[in-house]
Formats: sequence, C-alpha cells, structure tokens
Amino acid sequence: MKVGVLTGGGDCPGLNAVIRGVVRKGVQEYGYGFVGFKDGWRGPVEGDTVPLDIPAVRGILPRGGTILGSSRTNPFKTENGVRAIKDNLAKAEVDALIAIGGEDTLGVAARLYEEYGIPCVGVPKTIDNDLSATDYTFGFDTAVGIATEAIDRLHTTAESHMRVLVVEVMGRHAGWIALHSGLAGGANVILIPEQRFDVDQVCAWVASRFKASYAPIVVVAEGAMPKDGDLVLKDAVSRDSFGHVRLSGVGEWLAKEIEARTGKEARTTVLGHIQRGGTPSAFDRWLATRFGLHAIDAVRDGDFGKMVALKGTDIVRVPIADATARLKTVDPALYEEAGVFFG
Ligand code: F6P
Repeated sequence: MKVGVLTGGGDCPGLNAVIRGVVRKGVQEYGYGFVGFKDGWRGPVEGDTVPLDIPAVRGILPRGGTILGSSRTNPFKTENGVRAIKDNLAKAEVDALIAIGGEDTLGVAARLYEEYGIPCVGVPKTIDNDLSATDYTFGFDTAVGIATEAIDRLHTTAESHMRVLVVEVMGRHAGWIALHSGLAGGANVILIPEQRFDVDQVCAWVASRFKASYAPIVVVAEGAMPKDGDLVLKDAVSRDSFGHVRLSGVGEWLAKEIEARTGKEARTTVLGHIQRGGTPSAFDRWLATRFGLHAIDAVRDGDFGKMVALKGTDIVRVPIADATARLKTVDPALYEEAGVFFG
C-alpha cells in the first residue's frame, strides 16, 4: 500500500504533527510506503511530489507550518484538474490519499471520492474552529493562546495611557477565536461575525469601562460587521466566496469610530497571521497526532470518503461532506453568556 499525503488551504499549527502521526504508524505498524504531494491540491494536479518516510518526519512535531507546503489550488477550478490528479496518482502508484485541510480542501476530497471514486480520507484543520462534525480543529487552541497573550499585554499598555485598545483577530465567518480569547483575556467587548454590532452600544460599553477607571479592550473578529454596515459603508464592504458581507479592516474602522464618538484615544492591533505561525500548543499536538493515527487506520480499513473528527475525547469517523456542508458558527447562547463582561 502506498499512501499520498497533502496539506491544503491556510496553514495551521499542528499540520506537521498529523503528517508525523500518519507516517510513523503507517510505516511502523502497517509497513506502508508514503509520498508527499507539494502545496495542497497543486501537488497531485502537477505531479509534484516529495519523499515521505520516517527520516522526513523526524523532529517536525513542534514545528509550525507544513513540511509539504500549502496552497488554495482547487482542481475543480483548474482545467483538466481531476484528469491530471488521476494520471499523477497512477504514475506515483498511490493507492489512497490523505487530505489534511479545511472546508475547501476537504470539499475537493469529498467530491473526488464521491464523483470519481478516488480513495480519500480527510483530516480537518483550521485555526477558525468553524468546521462542523468535529468538536475542535487543531490550530484553534494555539491561535487562542496567541491572541490571549496579546490581549494580556495590551491591558497594561491600555491602562498606562488610558486608551481604548481594539484587537482584531482572525475569523471571517465564525467568532470562535474572538469569543475564546476575549473571555480568556478579560476583554470588555467581544464582537463576532455571527451578530452584527451596534457602534453606539460598543461606545457605551467603552465609556462605562472608563467610568470604572479601567481602559477598555475591544476584541473584534475580522468578519464582524456593524449593523447596517453594508448600507452605510457601501464602498468599504465586499462579498466573500460565501456571499457574506465583509468590512475589510474592521478593527481600524472601529477604533476611529470609537475615538470620534467618545473622544477617547483608540488604537488598533491586527494580529493577522501571527495567530497561524509558530509552534503548536500541547493540546493541538495531541489532537493533530491522534487525527494522524486514526486517519491511517481509516486507510487500512478502506473506509474512504470519511474524515476523522473529535467527539468528546474520542476520535470518530464521519462522512467528509458532514464537515463541509455548513459552517459551525458561535451559538447565540454562548455569546450571550460572555455579555456579562461587556462594559
Ligand atoms: O481560515 C483560516 C484563516 O486564517 C482565516 O481566519 C483568515 O481569514 C484566512 O485564513 C486568511 O487567509 P490567507 O492567509 O489566505 O490570507
């Protein structure tokens, strides 16, 4: 048995831990051979491979990024993409493919299996934690840790200058990073894409925080939008591939609004790709490693079209389509629960 492995979409701490788990168990327990495909689906489309064996995965457990490289190439949007994948898998003598990725990468794996019978197993990843069918994705815990540390640091500088500090975190469609890091870091306002915010309300929370002699920290997810924002800010908003309306640079925009409406100095910190870089947390290494071990078991069992997922403390297999059919967004009750700390 020869197994191909690829990592697609935005990178995420823990990708290397999955690759290591897959290869270590596959070689040691089952005697499988492996080949790595470079840069997500670009590798199988272009036949770009790298050797993948025990020496190749030595020392990679704590390393961020992915030794296989990543891209957002989609073979269904590439001319003759699927044909090329079939040819290149045959040429590399690959019997099964493990695709580690988010919604787009897994969506391709599901279609390749369902429509073309290509034997794929999926492993879910995203720092956004917005994939259905798994309780957590690896990378999320690391991103929350990084954002929380940033919020902790911003508290002291906010207090020294009695300024409003707005922290923009990742999360285009789901506010999981904002909610978790905002709670962990003691933010005074948390704004998420799932619920449009009222700028006057945000300013009222900011003002009440100053009244209590504290400087406020506002955590805003990059996909958060003000109420009526699309009507009022026409030129500044755009639609993403899901048709969701986005205000690019929402953190910067919000700080200016707060300053203008409250008269208090406001600054913005955009954490951006720092949240995706560097070494994975212990939890993410644990989860990613277990995903890897269970993914190679799914290959051994010939259980294709499936994705490994965390349910409680168990790793289970679910149809890949379950994860990609809809995004897992923040439950309104969870957001409401956090509201006790606003203001
Ligand atoms: O999906 C993961 C993610 O990090 C999002 O949170 C973010 O909006 C997006 O990727 C950024 O993508 P890129 O690195 O391609 O700009």
